[in-house]
Amino acid sequence: MEGKVAVVTGGSRGIGLEIAEVFLQSGAKVAVLASSADSVAKALAHLQERYASPVMGVACNVADLEEVTAAMGKIEAELGPIQVLVNNAGITRDALFLRMGEDKWDEVISVNLKGVFNCTKAVFRSMVKNRYGRIVNVTSVVGITGNVGQANYAAAKAGVIGFTKTIAREGAPYNILCNAVAPGFITTQMTEKIPEKLVSAIVEQIPLKKFGTPRDVAMAVKFLAAEDNQYITGQILGVDGGIGM
Ligand SMILES: NC(=O)c1ccc[n+]([C@@H]2O[C@H](COP(=O)([O-])OP(=O)(O)OC[C@H]3O[C@@H](n4cnc5c(N)ncnc54)[C@H](O)[C@@H]3O)[C@@H](O)[C@H]2O)c1
Repeated sequence: MEGKVAVVTGGSRGIGLEIAEVFLQSGAKVAVLASSADSVAKALAHLQERYASPVMGVACNVADLEEVTAAMGKIEAELGPIQVLVNNAGITRDALFLRMGEDKWDEVISVNLKGVFNCTKAVFRSMVKNRYGRIVNVTSVVGITGNVGQANYAAAKAGVIGFTKTIAREGAPYNILCNAVAPGFITTQMTEKIPEKLVSAIVEQIPLKKFGTPRDVAMAVKFLAAEDNQYITGQILGVDGGIGM
């Protein structure tokens, strides 16, 4: 990834921050996008303290195409053409379907699915022009299996899988490779909300009998995002301790 310009959405914490770190360790120039200016500033300070490679942070709502276009423009002006995009930003708004209002549905689809469209839209033309791109989308095992209380999230993540395969087909003539990782249960602030009793029940079902770490996901993302990856596209790589097989 030496010298490559990479954007990681949702890069202020959890899986996204770890991806940013692994990219910086590989010599990439990294821009992290996240929703709040405070969290971006905190992540940027953390990264600048540890790595010598250029790094920048932009506060931006991935659900808003205008904001995303402006953010990507700023990154290109500072770091150069974007060569790697990781669509990682995501939220949950769980509820059983009987109780799920339109607000929870719209919010999750806007961030987790339209956000992926927006960010890809904002960089794809430049990747085509430069005949180079590596796009990695962060979907979820839930997008394959479904999950009680997550109709909105599962639908968005399943949508990301169809999107990934389509971009892989359309990007192939231009040396743009597009893949996805599908994490299972990873220890982050997103899974912190799961009640202790439920955690034990989930762990029982995971063949490797533990939650994964952000680093487990970041290493898989790096593998797919690197220039060394010349022949893997349109794939969905489970990082899930075996729960999705
Ligand atoms: N943690 C897990 O177990 C797990 C499992 C499967 C998939 N995932 C997926 O991995 C990704 C990262 O999850 P995490 O656990 O690190 O979550 P997290 O809640 O710790 O971090 C989410 C990140 O997304 C950013 N974000 C949220 N809404 C945004 C918006 N509208 N615009 C820009 N940025 C926004 C936040 O600022 C934050 O940086 C998500 O897409 C999530 O769905 C997580």
